[in-house]
Amino acid sequence: MADPSARAPLGMLIELTHRCPLHCPYCSNPLELVRRSEELSREQWTDILTQARELGVVQMHFSGGEPLARPDLPDLVGHARQLGAYVNLVTSGVGLTADRARELARRGVDHVQLSLQDADPAAGDEVAGARVHAAKLKAAQAVTAAGLPLTVNVVLHRRNIDRVEQIVDLAVRLGADRIELANTQYYGWGLRNRAALMPTADQLAAARQAVRRARAQHAGGPELVYVAADYYDDRPKPCMDGWGNTQLTVTPTGDVLPCPAAYAITTLPVENALRRPLREIWYASEAFNAYRGTDWMREPCRTCPERTRDHGGCRCQAFQLTGDAAATDPACGLSPHRSLVDEALAEVTDGPAPAFVLRGPVPS
Ligand code: SF4
Ligand code: FES
Repeated sequence: MADPSARAPLGMLIELTHRCPLHCPYCSNPLELVRRSEELSREQWTDILTQARELGVVQMHFSGGEPLARPDLPDLVGHARQLGAYVNLVTSGVGLTADRARELARRGVDHVQLSLQDADPAAGDEVAGARVHAAKLKAAQAVTAAGLPLTVNVVLHRRNIDRVEQIVDLAVRLGADRIELANTQYYGWGLRNRAALMPTADQLAAARQAVRRARAQHAGGPELVYVAADYYDDRPKPCMDGWGNTQLTVTPTGDVLPCPAAYAITTLPVENALRRPLREIWYASEAFNAYRGTDWMREPCRTCPERTRDHGGCRCQAFQLTGDAAATDPACGLSPHRSLVDEALAEVTDGPAPAFVLRGPVPS
C-alpha cells in the first residue's frame, strides 16, 4: 500500500553497466552480472532520466560497473544536464583521459567520484586484479585539469587499512576536494570475501587514530569522511537514510531498487522501469513501501528510541544474515541475531588473512 508520508526522491544511482575493468574482491554488485546484450539502450535510459527528473530527482549519479564503458555516456550526461539535474560521475578512472574528462565536463558532469584502491601501487593493483593504479593517478589529473571537483573514494579492508595516512596524503596530492574512506560493507561478491577482508579490532583502532592525525595534518584541506566498520559497533548505520526515503537505484536492465544491494533480498518483488512508470514504482510499489517509515518494524526496533534515526539498520544485511529483511539488523547489539555478527568477528585473528577471490569479468 502507498505510504502517504513518502516524499520525492532526491537522488538516483544509474548503474549503466556491470562491465568493469577491475575485479575487486569487495564488489557489492550481484553475484550474477548483467551481460552487455541485456543492458538498456540509450533511448531507454533517456526516458528513465526524464521520468526521474519529473519525479523530483535532482542528483543523478552515473555509475556501474564502469560507466565509461558505455559510449553513449556523454549523451546521457548531456540529457541529465538539460533536465537540470546535478550530475555526478562515479568511476574507476580507467579510460578517463584528459580529452574525455573535458568532454564530459562540457556535456554536464558536475563532479567526479574516483575510486582508489591503495596508496601502494602494487597492493592497489593486486586488489583491483589489474594494473590500474597509474591510470587512476592520471585520471585524477584529468579531472582536476578539466576544472571538475574531485572526491577520492577508498574502500578500506584488512590489506589497506594500515595505510590510511598514506592514502590521505596521496588523495591530497591528487587535488581531492573530498576524501571518503569507507570500511567494506559485505554485500554481493564482498560478502563472499568477508573473512579475507575484515580488519582486526586493533587495525580499526589504529585507523581511527590515523584518521584523527590526518584530519589535523590537513586541517583546512579537503573534507575527510570516515565510514566506520559496522560489525564492530553495537549500533547499525542509518542505511540509505531509510528505505525508499531519498534514493533509488536503476540497474543495467532497468530494475528499480530501493537501494543498490536490494537485489540480494530475494523475497522482494522486482520492479522494472520498462514495465511500470518510475513515479508509480516510487510511490505505490510493494518493493518501495515494504520497509518505509517505521510501521513494518518488529521488536526490538518497534519501541526503540533509535528507530527514526537508524531506521532499524540495513534491510539487505538483515536479509543476507537472517533470511528475513524485516528483522533488526544483526549489527545492532539489541538484535536477537547479533551472534551472527559476533561469530564472524570471532573468525578474525591476527594471523594471515585467508586469500580473497577476485571477481571475474561480465560473461559475454
Ligand atoms: Fe536501531 Fe532497532 Fe537497534 Fe533500536 S533495536 S538501535 S531501532 S536497530
Ligand atoms: Fe540495502 Fe542497506 S544496503 S538497505
